[in-house]
Amino acid sequence: MNEVILELKKVIKRFSGVEVLHEVSFNLKPGEIHALLGENGAGKSTLIKIITGVHQPDGGEIWLNAHPVQFRDPHESRQAGIAAIYQELSLFPDLDVAENIFVGRQPTTNSGRIDWNRLYDEAGKLLTSLGVHLDLKQKTRQLSIAQQQMVEIARAFSINARILIMDEPTSSLTLNEVSDLFRLVRRLRDGGTSIIFISHRLEELFELADRVTVLRDGNFIDTKSLNEVSRDELIKLMVGRTISNLFPKQAANIGPVVLEVQNLSHNGLFENINFELHKGEILGLAGLVGAGRSNFWCGATRFRKNKNR
Ligand SMILES: Nc1ncnc2c1ncn2[C@@H]1O[C@H](COP(=O)(O)OP(=O)(O)OP(=O)(O)O)[C@@H](O)[C@H]1O
Ligand SMILES: [Mg+2]
Repeated sequence: MNEVILELKKVIKRFSGVEVLHEVSFNLKPGEIHALLGENGAGKSTLIKIITGVHQPDGGEIWLNAHPVQFRDPHESRQAGIAAIYQELSLFPDLDVAENIFVGRQPTTNSGRIDWNRLYDEAGKLLTSLGVHLDLKQKTRQLSIAQQQMVEIARAFSINARILIMDEPTSSLTLNEVSDLFRLVRRLRDGGTSIIFISHRLEELFELADRVTVLRDGNFIDTKSLNEVSRDELIKLMVGRTISNLFPKQAANIGPVVLEVQNLSHNGLFENINFELHKGEILGLAGLVGAGRSNFWCGATRFRKNKNR
């Protein structure tokens, strides 16, 4: 695994004259899962949008398979075998799974009509090869976020993507969905696809990724093999100071109760919720996806403003 499939050399990006990427370098090897890590605003999404042709760099070079390339738009990047899955999924909700996989590229008969038999046949084979079980004729608006991601991944593979980029794919998935996604991502990696994976969850990186590149304030900090770096070292690279300072405790002025909720329930959505909210307090309510947070974040942990996590 010594060769490099994709390389960014000293890439610079400015928005309205403000430089947000400062000579960032990055390289991706065939068949690796490479994580991008950095605090909010570090430049991760901007970097991948340069790789996918959404943004153009203001300096530096992109090399693909040892040749310099320029992607003027996402179409050109896709043509070169690079597919990206963003947090905002881009499926057509009223088309079904198979139609979404082949949208814009439907197989046609000799007379130029859509060859529906082939479309469903090829979509079925593709999903089987990826180990994904979905009803080909289901409208994608009826699918969970995790299932929609699977459709996007299948679409990426139907265009022979050799590089798959995933920007925080796990942020709204349940634990089971995350493990299904990881199984699929590993399968793709083992099939020779290179994957760039962004997540803020360090434990996910250690579970999934082979290497990690750390960005801080638009600067390249380091690239490490996940088996040669500790969690604390990664946090230090990411935030530029030791872990004890990651969430510095500050005094907060917590006042009297301004809202009190007692035994609040709503028909099957949530039950017996109790909490008090104080003036000047940030109250966090935690729970897994599906626990009912959207209806009423029904976790039981309370965090005081600025309290160490
Ligand atoms: N289209 C844009 N116009 C102007 N500034 C932008 C644009 N996109 C990003 N930025 C700025 O560039 C910097 C890097 O942002 P970016 O979204 O790449 O960070 P990120 O590492 O992906 O952060 P997060 O973890 O929050 O997703 C930030 O300061 C951001 O405000
Ligand atoms: Mg981002």
